[in-house]
Amino acid sequence: MILKNREEDIKAAVKDFEKLLREQMDRADKMGSEKSSGKASDSATVIGLIDGDGIGPIIMKEARKLLEIMLSDEINAGKVILRDIKGLTIGNRKAQGKSVPDDVLDEIKSCDVLLKGPTETPKGGTMESANVTLRRELDLYANVRPVAVPELGIDWTFFRENTEGEYVLGSRGIKIGEDLTMDFKVITEAGTERIARAAFDFAKNNNKERVAIVTKANIMKKTDGMFSEVCNRVAAEYEGIKAEDWYVDIMAANLVNPSIRSGFQVFLLPNLYGDIITDEAAEIQGGVGTGGSANIGDRYAMFEAIHGTAPRMIEDDLQDYVNPMSIFKACEMMLRHLGMAEKADKLRSALNKALSSECPYKVTGFPEGSTCAELTGYVFSQLA
Ligand code: IPM
Ligand code: MG
Repeated sequence: MILKNREEDIKAAVKDFEKLLREQMDRADKMGSEKSSGKASDSATVIGLIDGDGIGPIIMKEARKLLEIMLSDEINAGKVILRDIKGLTIGNRKAQGKSVPDDVLDEIKSCDVLLKGPTETPKGGTMESANVTLRRELDLYANVRPVAVPELGIDWTFFRENTEGEYVLGSRGIKIGEDLTMDFKVITEAGTERIARAAFDFAKNNNKERVAIVTKANIMKKTDGMFSEVCNRVAAEYEGIKAEDWYVDIMAANLVNPSIRSGFQVFLLPNLYGDIITDEAAEIQGGVGTGGSANIGDRYAMFEAIHGTAPRMIEDDLQDYVNPMSIFKACEMMLRHLGMAEKADKLRSALNKALSSECPYKVTGFPEGSTCAELTGYVFSQLA
């Protein structure tokens, strides 16, 4: 590379970096000062339903039926409205050149909570994942993912930071010249404090005694270093709850170590480690097709499956064999969030039965297993 280009490339990169730095400082300032209140009014609760891509519309169709059954009284009384939100499809997003088109975002913001099928995220390019955009736009900072395998003594709840870390600038890395690339990881004090409080509040309210703080602070010294420090500081306010620092690599190993894993209760992780570790945990539960995920903020909440759009299932014509459990789990979390604990408990017991040996239907994703319709029918029969 000749020197002139190198100097120009550096100058351009520094300019880009300055812009990012200013934006991130503004974001951190706002986070510390703004405290949004809950639901706008006490009128009807609007549940926005977003189909998504790939297997999304298939599982969302079953989820809609489930909500119609479980919320029929509330819907008839006008207390709950199910609102279909169209346009969050990869076709429309590409056509409009926006990860979440403006009109779709406006509609989404007119709801109180959302139930969302998986949306396709193009690899490379500059289009941000719709999930990342929505988590940021709705300020859904806590990604809560429960994983339970009662027969193995596993009852885990993951609190994944959901608005910063490796994700916040994931589509805005810098390419310098032709041969050097850089991405950025951003962790702020305010961003860490609010997820830490969410995790420790949960631990306190649910009689949990241990919170595992998962980082790689020996390597990512600044960002993970701050994450661990702030989490430990918050922990000191919660008497009787033990905070433990773990590195993410050994935690990945621990989750498949039967002699240690059942002792874990609550996990607190930065964004990317949370993404990876919760897929591993869901696999232990019975596959990512069984994992529900809640994205919670102070104003909005969005519930979804833990997994992606499963394009291979569509390509291989396996759509009849998709697993609806993940989105049903998301429905359970949504009902609980809406203060409908009794309904959530009822759904939880139906879902536990569907996952137990009592249930004759096992969805494997392949024709030798049961179909989505069979398992859905079984879950609905358990609700009757
Ligand atoms: C998840 C997903 C998303 C993520 C993708 C779809 C952007 O894997 O919710 O875990 O990486 O957060
Ligand atoms: Mg993931």
